[in-house]
Amino acid sequence: MLRALRRRALAGLAPVYLVGGPLRDMLLGEPIKDLDFVVEGDAPALAQSVAQELRGETLTYPRFGTATVVLPDCRVDLVTARRETYPKPGALPEVMPGNILDDLARRDFAINALALPLAQRRPALLDPQEGMADLAQGIIRTLHPRSFTDDPTRILRALRYEQRLRFSLETETWSQMRAAIRDGCLDTVSGDRLRRELERILEERRPAQALGRAADLGVLAAIHPALKDGSALKKLASEGQVPVSGLTCLAALAYPLTPGQEAGVVRRLVMPGTWAKVVEDTVALKSLAGKLAEPGLTPSRVYRLLEGRAAEAVCAVSQLTSSPMAAQRLDDYLRRLPLATAALNGNALLALGVPAGPKVGELLLKLRDARLDGHANSAAAERDLVHRWLTSEGGLAQNG
Ligand code: CTP
Repeated sequence: MLRALRRRALAGLAPVYLVGGPLRDMLLGEPIKDLDFVVEGDAPALAQSVAQELRGETLTYPRFGTATVVLPDCRVDLVTARRETYPKPGALPEVMPGNILDDLARRDFAINALALPLAQRRPALLDPQEGMADLAQGIIRTLHPRSFTDDPTRILRALRYEQRLRFSLETETWSQMRAAIRDGCLDTVSGDRLRRELERILEERRPAQALGRAADLGVLAAIHPALKDGSALKKLASEGQVPVSGLTCLAALAYPLTPGQEAGVVRRLVMPGTWAKVVEDTVALKSLAGKLAEPGLTPSRVYRLLEGRAAEAVCAVSQLTSSPMAAQRLDDYLRRLPLATAALNGNALLALGVPAGPKVGELLLKLRDARLDGHANSAAAERDLVHRWLTSEGGLAQNG
């Protein structure tokens, strides 16, 4: 794809530039995730010509002057160089064609405002905003004072880069961010856009650190007042804690919520079902912690209390609860999950003389409990138990 574009650029057919993230990551010696290109001209037409040559598909968005070339092993975005103006804070920008310098000037941070002209035989990096110096110093810096109010999602982007690259926010950028948060700029952003940024944070290697910072800065409280307490996120992020998955981090975000507050948070961020379940289960499990700490609770009782709950919620609550006993039981549940099926199945029970009907399901559950509580650890031991139940006085219903 890069070569196909370069050939066209060298032939004078298209002024194409490799831009943004891939250059930043290359200069930092980080792996490059995907390539982004800017064209001074018609990006959808260029995408179509390249896709034809490489036998790929093109998705074009003529209204925005953008296109994606889809090849069997990659997707590459091509964007028409543009200028942007924001009709009002938080709204999507109005765009008009521009040149590469306009395009770099509309970007979020100097470290992303880099371009490599493919039309030059020995390409010289374009760095009008001095992003290279920021990369060398480890600094995240906006390009103009209205950057965060124009596009408040950049607040979350800045915190994501800060934690990913272990960079610092430049002093002015830091003040601009604080002012934008204080002035309520996050109220202007749709739940969908906020959730997409959160999603990207959750895909990072250190999501709890970025969200912990967002809590400290009042970003989470500005998104929804019930999210103001970041202590669970900070605990998860603290030294010595094992790395956690994105959804476990989402559970930590939800941990301080009290029953009844989940729905508002789910609505504000237009959460998909999987997210909503993690949030709801976290709040429910936190309320169960007292019960989970009761002495004498058998593993099978624990299993029945936790069955069906999102594993990420269980994992987060086990790390966050103040009760060591509840934590141990939650952990134990996660470890025993794969064990929690009986060796015998329904047909095996019928063959042992269990009457067809609801009894079969009931006994399968009892067998599972027996396995969890260590009373049966093989098919033979399970068969013995079933025999005992079938022959015991008073029939099946009294066995336990
Ligand atoms: N961009 C921006 N403002 C945003 C989102 C994106 O200015 N709110 C610009 C940035 O210059 C960024 C480019 O669009 O480099 C592409 O966006 P994206 O793919 O999100 O960034 P990458 O840097 O490629 O990817 P990542 O953030 O995951 O490293």
